[in-house]
Amino acid sequence: MTTPLLQMQSITKDFPGVRALDDVSFEVQAGEIHALCGENGAGKSTLIKILGAVHPHGTYDGQLRIDGKEQRFHSVRDAERAGIAVIHQELALISEMTVAENIYLGQEPRRFGIIDKHRLYRDAAQLLSQFGLTLPLQTSVHELGIGQQQLVEIAKALSRNARLLVLDEPTAALTENEVKTLRQILAQLQEKGVACIYITHKLKEIFQGADRVTVLRDGKTVATQAVAACTEPMLISQMVGREFSRAARFPKREGAARVQKQVALRVANLSTDSLEPPRLDAISFEVRRGEILGLAGLMGAGRTELINVLFGAYSGSWSGDVFINHIAVRNRTPRDAIRHKMGLVSEDRKRYGLILDADVACNMTLANLGHTESIINRSAEFEKCNHYVESLRIKTASLTVPVSHLSGGNQQKVVLGKWLMTRPEILFLDEPTRGIDVGAKAEIHALIAQLAAEGLAIVFVSSELPEILGISDRILVLHEGKLTGEFINDNVTEEDILRCAAGTYETDI
Ligand SMILES: Nc1ncnc2c1ncn2[C@@H]1O[C@H](COP(=O)(O)OP(=O)(O)OP(=O)(O)O)[C@@H](O)[C@H]1O
Ligand SMILES: [Mg+2]
Repeated sequence: MTTPLLQMQSITKDFPGVRALDDVSFEVQAGEIHALCGENGAGKSTLIKILGAVHPHGTYDGQLRIDGKEQRFHSVRDAERAGIAVIHQELALISEMTVAENIYLGQEPRRFGIIDKHRLYRDAAQLLSQFGLTLPLQTSVHELGIGQQQLVEIAKALSRNARLLVLDEPTAALTENEVKTLRQILAQLQEKGVACIYITHKLKEIFQGADRVTVLRDGKTVATQAVAACTEPMLISQMVGREFSRAARFPKREGAARVQKQVALRVANLSTDSLEPPRLDAISFEVRRGEILGLAGLMGAGRTELINVLFGAYSGSWSGDVFINHIAVRNRTPRDAIRHKMGLVSEDRKRYGLILDADVACNMTLANLGHTESIINRSAEFEKCNHYVESLRIKTASLTVPVSHLSGGNQQKVVLGKWLMTRPEILFLDEPTRGIDVGAKAEIHALIAQLAAEGLAIVFVSSELPEILGISDRILVLHEGKLTGEFINDNVTEEDILRCAAGTYETDI
């Protein structure tokens, strides 16, 4: 056997109150795609942060070798110099800079000491075409959606000619097509002998592209194995430490029984005036109390825009009527929406959902403050927070830990907890289980069903069709800003939905 490209040996990493990694050993061969999976908080990102020197030498125990030689990385630059490019779970782009500037950040081509803008844009264009990526190079990053930002990070890593590319949940926000492009890029790199560590909660992706897979559980390595020798149930049971049947992944459906007569939200003829797609076009629908309405569609179909308009979080102008409990309302700000007992778990938790430096308790009570306006009683507040930390099984050492210290999936659960604390009557969930592991996903599905049973009207956006089919009572499909399908969730197939989502099939609505 040749010397592995990367060896991480007996790695142990402690944070106050948590052992994130406990004697983990992990190896990657040159040219292999090595998947890394495990539940939220298992230690995946921490392992990667050690490799990328976000946690430098001396802050952990154990050894790191490249080509058999021990490495002591003191800074991120050291890791980069050794040929390691990491795309972290929380993106680190500079939002005021353009796409091209971000790609070459820190390694800008220079002429007489000054950044050579002309060459920068030319190089960037060349890089993109080499890998078949399309991105608006002159646009500021803050104008891009989260999926495109992810692609900018990928381009940035590619520009560094790394020997080992590390992707921490790269596809969480990508469209099907973008995922396909990414898979082609990895295959292209693999041919050149570049290795890749690929963290994902989407098991399908492991089977589609990886050579080997390592499973972490509670900071320990459970197994490293060839993907060809694995099955999905096998991986799941390694991750959660118990058998986990497919049926257990979605709550039992009580059918229409839960859905009440009372219409909680009615939308009539809603259109936006935006010049850029997606432009919402005469959208009409209603949601009843106790109902889970799934919103399906491809990325960019207008689902997020629709929810943002309803929640008062849309910056452009729009027309149409919105009725909450039969009363016409027009939410101009999220505060208006909260007052009307709406909640929104947004798809971009970093931008809209959390204050990363503030602690867990503070984040969970954030949305509540606006409408109770009472003097904050810290101990009553803590009690409520604890309730949600337990019921959502948020893995945190305490309520006073900054939210940035939580694993990605656990941060997402904090956002959910925050909105549940406002006791909304209408809850919008935009990709609420993105980045959440299989076990916790099932818990969130059960929770959504329970909330609906308590009478909440729920509008649920997800790009994962099994999930939409697994929990919705009714499904609406959007395509390029128009409603192209409506289904009572009874014998609907993924194909039916996909056809509407692609705009090639119309039901009679
Ligand atoms: N900077 C930090 N300070 C304190 N604790 C931390 C810090 N970073 C991570 N942890 C803790 O270490 C553990 C492992 O977290 P990590 O982010 O590695 O999980 P993960 O496997 O990437 O999970 P996810 O799938 O949710 O992204 C968690 O308990 C987390 O709360
Ligand atoms: Mg992580």
